[in-house]
Amino acid sequence: MTAASDGLEGVVAAETVLSEVDGANGVLIVRGRSLDELAGRTTYEDMVGLLFGGFYADLPANIPAALGVARVEVFKEVAALDTGLLDRTPIEAMRALTARLGDGDDAQVAFRLLAAPAVFTAAVIRAQAGEAPVAPDPTLRHAADILRMLRGATASAAEADALDTYLVTVADHGLNASTFAARVVASTRAGLTSAVLAGISALKGPLHGGAPGPVIEMLDEIGEPGNARAWIEGALARGDRLMGFGHRIYKVRDPRADALKAAVRWLDARQGRLEFAEAVEAAALAILREHKPNRALQTNVEFYTALLLEALDFPPSAFTNVFAMGRVAGWLAHAREQLAGGRLIRPASVYVGPMPKKAA
Ligand code: CMC
Repeated sequence: MTAASDGLEGVVAAETVLSEVDGANGVLIVRGRSLDELAGRTTYEDMVGLLFGGFYADLPANIPAALGVARVEVFKEVAALDTGLLDRTPIEAMRALTARLGDGDDAQVAFRLLAAPAVFTAAVIRAQAGEAPVAPDPTLRHAADILRMLRGATASAAEADALDTYLVTVADHGLNASTFAARVVASTRAGLTSAVLAGISALKGPLHGGAPGPVIEMLDEIGEPGNARAWIEGALARGDRLMGFGHRIYKVRDPRADALKAAVRWLDARQGRLEFAEAVEAAALAILREHKPNRALQTNVEFYTALLLEALDFPPSAFTNVFAMGRVAGWLAHAREQLAGGRLIRPASVYVGPMPKKAA
């Protein structure tokens, strides 16, 4: 009998050409290119091309145009947004609308799924605020259109670039929990929509993609730098975890944190908030070192995600939806990679329950 690995830590469950997370050195590589080469230097559409290349035989030559068309197609499903769904959290409402899309394995299905979190999230946020949905503009870049659908007005170039940087930064990240969930479902040949729904469901938890909303709550409750130590020590004394810190793979600073911090700097109005967040971050790191001297707990992607998405006017209740807008590209690439070469994922367990009584 072999012992189970708690949380599958250290278990190698797939081979992938998509991305590598080097946790010892704080480096993320996506298809041979480091995050430094990608964040702020490439569009989300180019990132989709990078991730999907070789996995979709029918990949459109013009990815921005195909994604624009897909946004328009999925917008029709927004009509199904009823009051029952509007009482749900934005991630639950977005997931329910995404579940209306049919399953399949081709590029057309994949592009609708790429568009779905963006189009549905903007419509849900507006509807929850009592505002009518804004139809997509297929001629715009994905990031610019997301902000336009959210606000009903054109975003500045700096804002669209900042959101593009976010979407690129979070597009893929090794075998994280949501990507693994998507690969498990893809391995059963259930279809891409089913795989993406599994990804959204895993992402929504606070230990994975649900952390940045609570980061804003933490910053708001702390209020000013002088309160940081008392607040953080109180939270740790209660046994709470500090959201935006710690990572299973990174034992040094998560490189995505600084890519996003750089994007926050482009948005001039947020500088005061950024300085405050940096002070809270410094206090948190110092206290985590004192609290857990044997654990290398560093800042992860979610801390500066919170600052960036707040600056772009997304409500904290929908931050995980924006994570899904970027990560969906990774789920779809991994699902196809799994289908192309992988067997059904079916690990073993160790039975530790009672044995049947021997027959008399
Ligand atoms: N605050 C306080 N203590 C922490 C934290 C934290 N943020 N993270 C880990 N620890 C402690 C934990 O209590 C444990 O202590 P002990 O060994 O004494 O019981 C130790 O550090 C190791 O924690 P773990 O739960 O075994 O580590 P893990 O690899 O299972 O968890 C994590 C990784 C990200 C779930 C965890 O660090 C965490 O809960 N962080 C806060 C939530 C968060 O920011 N999530 C976003 C992750 S980044 C987005 C992504 O890529 O998914």
